[in-house]
Amino acid sequence: MELIGSNISFKYPSAKKYILKDIDIYLDNKKITGFVGDSGSGKSTLCKILSGYIQRYDGRVTLNGEELPKKEFCPVQLIYQHPEKVMNPKWKMNDVLGESWEVPDELLEEFGIQKSWLTRFPQELSGGELQRFSVLRAINPKTKFLIADEMTTMLDAITQVQIIDSVLKIVKERNMGFLLVSHDMDLVNTICDDVIYLKDINNIDK
Ligand SMILES: Nc1ncnc2c1ncn2[C@@H]1O[C@H](COP(=O)(O)OP(=O)(O)O)[C@@H](O)[C@H]1O
Ligand SMILES: [Mg+2]
Repeated sequence: MELIGSNISFKYPSAKKYILKDIDIYLDNKKITGFVGDSGSGKSTLCKILSGYIQRYDGRVTLNGEELPKKEFCPVQLIYQHPEKVMNPKWKMNDVLGESWEVPDELLEEFGIQKSWLTRFPQELSGGELQRFSVLRAINPKTKFLIADEMTTMLDAITQVQIIDSVLKIVKERNMGFLLVSHDMDLVNTICDDVIYLKDINNIDK
């Protein structure tokens, strides 16, 4: 499985300058790739493009040679640093999850989710608890490639290890592609087979 971005350039409509210029990026599910770069350099923006969240950009993104669907479920799923920002505050967690797929009980257990949390609203859960839901939501059976954007940056060390272990297990079982965005080089060196530095692929200053 190959996720390829070719010739990607992007500028936010409100900004004067491009933040991504002529980027070529090649990812596959044979290895786990780390994605590293300075804060504010455009990592999250590129992740949003690669997962179909930003749809207006120059260039092309393909998964196994096909463009990402614009309306249907996207097989490239993004897990955000701040799960609360991408969950409807008026929905109970049951509905937040159910919007993506019917998660089996074994997976709720694997991710340490208590049944009582399902009837709570997002603001009634801690960051670590919420992040477990956003991971589960992202690992829909149709997901082929997972992008974790600073997924565990806001969490304590134990929660971080638990969530990463569970995600890696699923990634291996399902043979999914996995891109890990992190500024934690220890974490990147521990779990990634390869590292891409945004400055090396971004032609913004060149
Ligand atoms: N929705 C937005 N509108 C305008 N500018 C944005 C928006 N989101 C991010 N930016 C700007 O784009 C740049 C790159 O942001 P981002 O992709 O979040 O970087 P990173 O993830 O590497 O920290 C930053 O200067 C940021 O302020
Ligand atoms: Mg970011």
